Amino acid sequence: MDEKDICILKKLYENEYISGEELASLLHVSRMAINKRIKSLRALGYRIESAKKKGYMLVDKDVIRIWEIEGYIQSSNLFKEFIYLNEVDSTNAYVKQNQQYLPNATVVYAERQTQGRGRFSRSWVDLDKGIKMSILLKLLLLDLEKIVPLTLFTGLVINRVLRKHGVESFIKWSNDIYLNGKKVCGILSELSGEVEGFGSIIIGIGINVNAKSVPEEIKDIATTLKAETLHDFDRTRLIIDILKEFERELSNFEKYGFSYFRDEYKSFCINLGKEILVNGERMFCKDIGKNGELVCEKDGKIVEISSGEVTIRF
Ligand code: BTN
Repeated sequence: MDEKDICILKKLYENEYISGEELASLLHVSRMAINKRIKSLRALGYRIESAKKKGYMLVDKDVIRIWEIEGYIQSSNLFKEFIYLNEVDSTNAYVKQNQQYLPNATVVYAERQTQGRGRFSRSWVDLDKGIKMSILLKLLLLDLEKIVPLTLFTGLVINRVLRKHGVESFIKWSNDIYLNGKKVCGILSELSGEVEGFGSIIIGIGINVNAKSVPEEIKDIATTLKAETLHDFDRTRLIIDILKEFERELSNFEKYGFSYFRDEYKSFCINLGKEILVNGERMFCKDIGKNGELVCEKDGKIVEISSGEVTIRF
């Protein structure tokens, strides 16, 4: 999709109907060229109908308003570039492959992932009308030890934004977002490309937003915002709010580390005070440490866990 396609989409979004002539004159192209572009937008999945004498209509308006996100990125002091893809294998993989050409603080968004990646080498089930995006941060190697707390920080930011949007979400350590006991969001942070003292962290965010339901095979563990609240969410607003909040709080994270956010994290963390399984071992979750580690009790001894898979025994 190029700038002209985005402009057509914007006009379709803003109007009930818009004629081919009007679009052609707005874009300084022929009526035929508009026809061709509408066809290719349809092929990408946009539901555009045409009616005689009225013109084109965007039937399903649950689309990402790329122009609004680009507008925000231009005004941002942190984010430098926004890349919108209709389909990709995985946004994390895309960033990894292209990172040498991408500026620090690039955001890559995809409407569909064919090989979405989850943590622990799992796959991330691709749901319609969700949010799948990756943030690239180029850092000094020295900073790379911040990867775990940075991922926790990202989870906290998303939980905050979801709550602002009226969702009663919680955090499951380390960075899953839960709603009504099921997962609605996962984060996969990957380290990559250490060249001459520099490396990068790719923070991949997947949120199940407006799909009516999830496939049978994950229905006991995962859900969507819409399935739980019975209404649609403005995905563009969610994306911008997440990026804004991330930008706003990143300086506090850099200055004070995770401990600045620890109390808030703890107040939404559903592991605390529960019996949990860490990589299959039974423990009692007592606290969240200064750097976001899970503080547990096992056979009367305190154990600190900084990575691993945690299951809660309710
Ligand atoms: C998890 O297992 O909980 C993490 C899931 C992360 C999914 C997101 S979707 C966007 C980004 N690209 C990927 O391939 N994975 C992450």
